Amino acid sequence: MLEVQNLSIEYTTEDGVLKAVDDVSFNLQRGESLGIVGESGCGKTTVAKALLRLLPENGAISGGRVLFHGENLVGKSPDHMRRIRHSKIALVSQSAMNSLNPVYTVGHQIREGILAHSNIGRHAAHARCVEVFGMVGLEEKRLSSYPHQLSGGMKQRAIIAMALSLEPDIIVADEPTTALDVVVQGRILQRIRAIQRQISTSMIFITHDISVVSEICERIIVMYGGKIMEQADSASFFRAPYHPYSLGLQNAFPSITDITGEELVSIPGTPPNLMQEQPGCRFQERCPFATSQCRSRTPPLVKVKSNHHAACWYTDQVNDFRTRARNRDTWEAVRTRIEQQETPQQ
Ligand SMILES: Nc1ncnc2c1ncn2[C@@H]1O[C@H](COP(=O)(O)OP(=O)(O)O)[C@@H](O)[C@H]1O
Ligand SMILES: [Mg+2]
Repeated sequence: MLEVQNLSIEYTTEDGVLKAVDDVSFNLQRGESLGIVGESGCGKTTVAKALLRLLPENGAISGGRVLFHGENLVGKSPDHMRRIRHSKIALVSQSAMNSLNPVYTVGHQIREGILAHSNIGRHAAHARCVEVFGMVGLEEKRLSSYPHQLSGGMKQRAIIAMALSLEPDIIVADEPTTALDVVVQGRILQRIRAIQRQISTSMIFITHDISVVSEICERIIVMYGGKIMEQADSASFFRAPYHPYSLGLQNAFPSITDITGEELVSIPGTPPNLMQEQPGCRFQERCPFATSQCRSRTPPLVKVKSNHHAACWYTDQVNDFRTRARNRDTWEAVRTRIEQQETPQQ
């Protein structure tokens, strides 16, 4: 259904050109749910916006193709894209809650959307509103509420209902629950998962929280510094991730880590500056296992198992890495290394 091939995206800024996404490729099948995971700034939202051709003025696709049902969306007219966005690929974002119009009831807004983009009548449109509200677990009477009468969680569910109402082929959900409290988040995620099973809509679910992906996605992409570090079936990935960055992310999110009784271990340091073209692996500065090879040569994404790829030179040493990554000292050593590099020698 969707085939992203060698997608690269740049932002032009006062300080120069920033390569936000570099040579990203993936497929999405009908009915499939794909998670894109990575820390803030690694290019997730940029990918989402590029798929929908919603990049800001200073952003541009500098290479690659986005095939939707075999048709390349890169280079399509704004009009064509507007139609696709409304009825074929829907975006649900963190800030979507604020896009509800305060002057109209949510039911009105969803119904008008349906009427504008399909040829069904008022009656059927209303029935569809009731149906999608049911799917996201909102009572029918809430259709006549104004946005300010709804809690954050309800508003976000109304937005998801709105996306579902046009029966898109793909829903792109960009951190849809990040602004909500953990309990509400969990409930909405369970809903999304149930809907996912119920209908054949495909989904791209973007989040910085790797444990969320384990709950709702069949496949996962781990991004770092604008590149794909690891790509796999979720079952295979969560049983045994291969990339050191993935190992670090697992430690940072509690529900799937097995560091028992210990507090979370975050990955020391910060993501790379994408303004500077750098040789080698993007993660090498923060990687506990980096060697001189990692600093000079960029590792390609290679197959490590069926439906499982990783971009690391040392996938053959992963058993050792997994053991060491569970040890807090491994990451503390990275912290010390980074601090020493930052302190100028006296
Ligand atoms: N409009 C913009 N202009 C310049 N740089 C941007 C713009 N939007 C995002 N970026 C940069 O692009 C990179 C990727 O950002 P983004 O896609 O938002 O990451 P994520 O969604 O993973 O947090 C970051 O370095 C970010 O600072
Ligand atoms: Mg983002």
